[in-house]
Amino acid sequence: MNDLKQYLTARRSAIDAALLAALPGPPACPANLADAMRYSIVAGGKRLRPILCLASAEAVGGDSALAMPAACALEFIHTYSLIHDDLPAMDNDTLRRGQPTLHVVAGEGMAILAGDGLLTEAFALMAREPRGDDSSLVARKARVIGIVAAGAGTAGMVGGQAIDLTGGPLDADGLRGMHARKTGALIRASATAGAVMGGGTDGQIEAIDRAASEFGLAFQIIDDVLDVEGASAELGKTAGKDAAAGKSTYPALYGLDISKRMASECLDRAAAALASMNLADSRLLQIGRWIVERSN
Ligand code: IPE
Ligand code: IPE
Ligand code: MG
Ligand code: MG
Ligand code: MG
Repeated sequence: MNDLKQYLTARRSAIDAALLAALPGPPACPANLADAMRYSIVAGGKRLRPILCLASAEAVGGDSALAMPAACALEFIHTYSLIHDDLPAMDNDTLRRGQPTLHVVAGEGMAILAGDGLLTEAFALMAREPRGDDSSLVARKARVIGIVAAGAGTAGMVGGQAIDLTGGPLDADGLRGMHARKTGALIRASATAGAVMGGGTDGQIEAIDRAASEFGLAFQIIDDVLDVEGASAELGKTAGKDAAAGKSTYPALYGLDISKRMASECLDRAAAALASMNLADSRLLQIGRWIVERSN
């Protein structure tokens, strides 16, 4: 695990530098909008999605540098989803990544626009980089843009958020489906985008996709568990809000113990998927364990 810690620290610092370089600034971008986007990006966060993207490129024997633009784009999209998720019209949260939420410091209008900006700039970044007109690279980039759009869009994260917003009780299938969309889809896209940019075979990409969909479900189950068991100071966001808002969550439907067991069963299925393509020795499974064992 120490070794994983070092890996995560090294990856985070490379990702943070690339994110800063990719953020738009004046004069092309108005200064107040640039400041708002930067505020939410530099506030921190685990950087799980970009880490998964880079680790997947490495797992298939590829050059993770080729996956860095997609990794940053995924963090832009994730951060936009958090900014909008926290708005008064959605979860109405005032704390995120240990800081006041963007709409609290910059107003709702600017928070909406910063989210819009991050989403749009994510696609501009993936279209632009990595630079080069080699036809294999161009084809990989186009494929990744489609993968990320599917994960972020109406069949993925935005669709899941719409189900969450609609509210009402969900049965087991409904809850798993909402979680697969609102959180799983972007985590899946992160891993598959990395595997594609790394030049993985169809079999490798498919195995990583299956493993990452298990990671994604486990991730949201643990997010729900931490909302019950965690402390706001450690989470960097207000704990206990799901029950107060009457949200459909794993702990609400199954209780804490069964929820935790279900998250670890996701890991078992992920391990089997990775093993089927001899990918079980990659970083990916360690990252999966971190997802389930994390405390923030
Ligand atoms: C929180 O995501 C929102 C969910 C999708 C559950 P993270 O827990 O990855 O948030 P950061 O990026 O570390 O802040
Ligand atoms: C949000 O799920 C998932 C997103 C797409 C942002 P939550 O609403 O549970 O995320 P947190 O707990 O506020 O981070
Ligand atoms: Mg929400
Ligand atoms: Mg929320
Ligand atoms: Mg949550």
